[in-house]
Amino acid sequence: MDRRHFIKITGMGLALTTLSSSLIACSDGATKLDYGWNGPDQSIQDIRLKLLAYAILSPNPHNKQPWQIRLLDQNSFDLYVDQTRLLPETDPYARQIHIGQGTFLETLSIAASAHGYQANIDYFPLGSYSNLTLAELPVARVTLLPQANISRDPLFDYVLTRQSNKRNYDNSLLSPAQKSQLLDWSKSTSGQLTLIDTDAEQAYLRQMLTQAMQLEVGNKARDLETIAMFRFNEAEIQQYRDGFGLAHNGVTGFKKMLAENFFLDRASTERDPTEFGKQSVDMAQRITASTSTFAWLTTQHNERIDQVKVGRDYCRLNLMATAMGLAIHPMSQVLQEYADMLPLQREFKQRFNIPQSNTVQMLIRVGKAPSLSHTPRREVSSLISNIRAC
Ligand SMILES: Cc1cc2nc3c(=O)[nH]c(=O)nc-3n(C[C@H](O)[C@H](O)[C@H](O)COP(=O)(O)O)c2cc1C
Repeated sequence: MDRRHFIKITGMGLALTTLSSSLIACSDGATKLDYGWNGPDQSIQDIRLKLLAYAILSPNPHNKQPWQIRLLDQNSFDLYVDQTRLLPETDPYARQIHIGQGTFLETLSIAASAHGYQANIDYFPLGSYSNLTLAELPVARVTLLPQANISRDPLFDYVLTRQSNKRNYDNSLLSPAQKSQLLDWSKSTSGQLTLIDTDAEQAYLRQMLTQAMQLEVGNKARDLETIAMFRFNEAEIQQYRDGFGLAHNGVTGFKKMLAENFFLDRASTERDPTEFGKQSVDMAQRITASTSTFAWLTTQHNERIDQVKVGRDYCRLNLMATAMGLAIHPMSQVLQEYADMLPLQREFKQRFNIPQSNTVQMLIRVGKAPSLSHTPRREVSSLISNIRAC
């Protein structure tokens, strides 16, 4: 089997490059660590650390895990953006990074309710900042208040199974009851949910999302930003415990073992990302063709607080979809703010009568697919900037 043929089979947006002797020694791809998905370590007593061990499982752009915690007194802490974990090429205003702050706060709040605590969240307690800056100021101060009679949020049951499912879907449509459930829920959210599933709309979105991927990969700096978060083998996953690899795109078993050991090589892929880009476009075409329902969350305003709050909505949407047996997968390329993308973004908004002044914060496909391996997570202690002082 030649390399080009092989990559077609794995369906991955990665250049297949020369055999790397360093990769031959890799494991067969079976994950030895649970990377946090079995819940907090039993030895953790501090309620803050216990809840943070759930929050780190939140959806976040490119699995950067852009969170930093400063512990305060015994029941409170501040959440900051980790400024060493940004995506400046594809997320130039750190809008998605702030959505990821919201997902973190929502998972934390849900987990708190299941442990008998109310998480009081004070947004930007020392002041906010504009979309053109990223100040060293906390995004939120969280205070945990014990509350014996707090109702347990039923979405807690899905925190350890939730995922972003990047597989092919089966083109099934949501039932009218499923659509009503999602739309009823969205009446109480800060972002406005739109569900799209007519034939004409599907056809437009498939073509447009593929075109958006084509635009995204036409730039080496953007490609390198994504490749930097791609984990080429199990050794990289264990080393970094962030990002995503073949298994997280649904490539498993023998194909994964073969690809990781004989075909994938970081150095050559970074030197020439052309094949990476081509395969990313093919993948966008394939997965959108397998999808019949698309959805987005829109806000009228786009301040930092709006980004954080819609992140909380998105986290609940992902958990709710899990509870309903649905897979969801964000496809953010057309929403991104770099100059090459703006004409297509304007055309997309116009096509669906979305006011140009509104912000589509998340665009997802929705459907049915078997679950995947979970993306890795770092140790919760690595989020905490002052852990030794406490
Ligand atoms: C703001 C935001 C944007 C995202 N955009 C994309 C995207 O464009 N493509 C994609 O495959 N996944 C996207 N994701 C999903 C992340 O890749 C995913 O959450 C992360 O890798 C962690 O994996 P998990 O959600 O399965 O735990 C996005 C997630 C968030 C929160």
